[in-house]
Amino acid sequence: MNSLEDFAAITLRDEPLAPLTWLKVGGPAQRLIQPRSVDELAAVIRVCHENKITVHMLGGGSNLLVRDEGVSGVVIRLSDPAFSKVSIEGTRLRAGGGAMLSHVITESVKAGLAGLDTLVGIPGTIAGALKGNAGGRNGEIGENIHSVTVITAQGEKFVRQGDELVFEYRHSSINELCVVEAEFELTKDNPDDIAERMHKLWVMKKSTQPLSFQSAGCVFKNPRGLSAGALIEQAGLKGMKIGNCQVSDRHGNFIITEPGAKSADVLKLIDVMKTKVAEAHGVELQLEIQVW
Ligand code: EPU
Repeated sequence: MNSLEDFAAITLRDEPLAPLTWLKVGGPAQRLIQPRSVDELAAVIRVCHENKITVHMLGGGSNLLVRDEGVSGVVIRLSDPAFSKVSIEGTRLRAGGGAMLSHVITESVKAGLAGLDTLVGIPGTIAGALKGNAGGRNGEIGENIHSVTVITAQGEKFVRQGDELVFEYRHSSINELCVVEAEFELTKDNPDDIAERMHKLWVMKKSTQPLSFQSAGCVFKNPRGLSAGALIEQAGLKGMKIGNCQVSDRHGNFIITEPGAKSADVLKLIDVMKTKVAEAHGVELQLEIQVW
């Protein structure tokens, strides 16, 4: 049986994950592995599967809280340029799973292609955005998907066509371990018109969200027909602080962290927010961010 020692050249042991997340808290990964190609990625995953080692896929770290004790097993990051290529042919855009969504949006607009522009201001990678169907009131990433190339937890690679995928609010049916590539079908439009629409969305976002602070975006999903941010505000929690973590006083569904913050404090704050909102409104908030 192969072992993880075969991948020593691309492995970092006890590697701090906090700098790789937007909240900048949490402990190290027992092993952080950064493959250099799709084949190498599949090989790492197969070895983990054979040896029953837990694998976590790290994307842009913008929707993630890592616990202070860190993550055992393997964390894989698609940071090699092999995973962030973007190419365009006609109205079809192909992007690697490790490409930053913001970069892909920019490339699409430069080519006069509309569809991804509604996602302006959303952080993260293509893979993470697709798995969680990232979006907002103006659109979601699943709307323009043509196909995705995935790798399963057993290390098998295959293509799933867009029409067999289901995208729902902050959820997609892509349940394979990782997305290595995605193809989007976009529409021709005037680059200046697209840029103007994006600018308006960006200004709106900046006026309602604490974008210049360390945060992981919205912490909770919006309950059907309701706004988690408004519920949190009405429960009197805006500005509440535990340690160096705080409920944003601009938007109730954002937790912001300051230097010295602990993951445990973020978790305590999350707990208080859930409990207080349940008491005040009888609504059980569900986490949008992932906790490792
Ligand atoms: N509101 C308050 N108090 C607050 C926050 C919001 O009263 O503290 C009210 C607003 O005044 C507004 C309503 O709640 O009437 C909705 O607020 P907002 O427009 O800020 O949007 P949201 O529903 O809170 C969603 C997404 C955001 C996305 C925006 C814009 C979720 C959980 N959040 O926020 O996504 O950027 O719409 O499209 O679906 C994320 O997922 O990380 C995220 C930030």
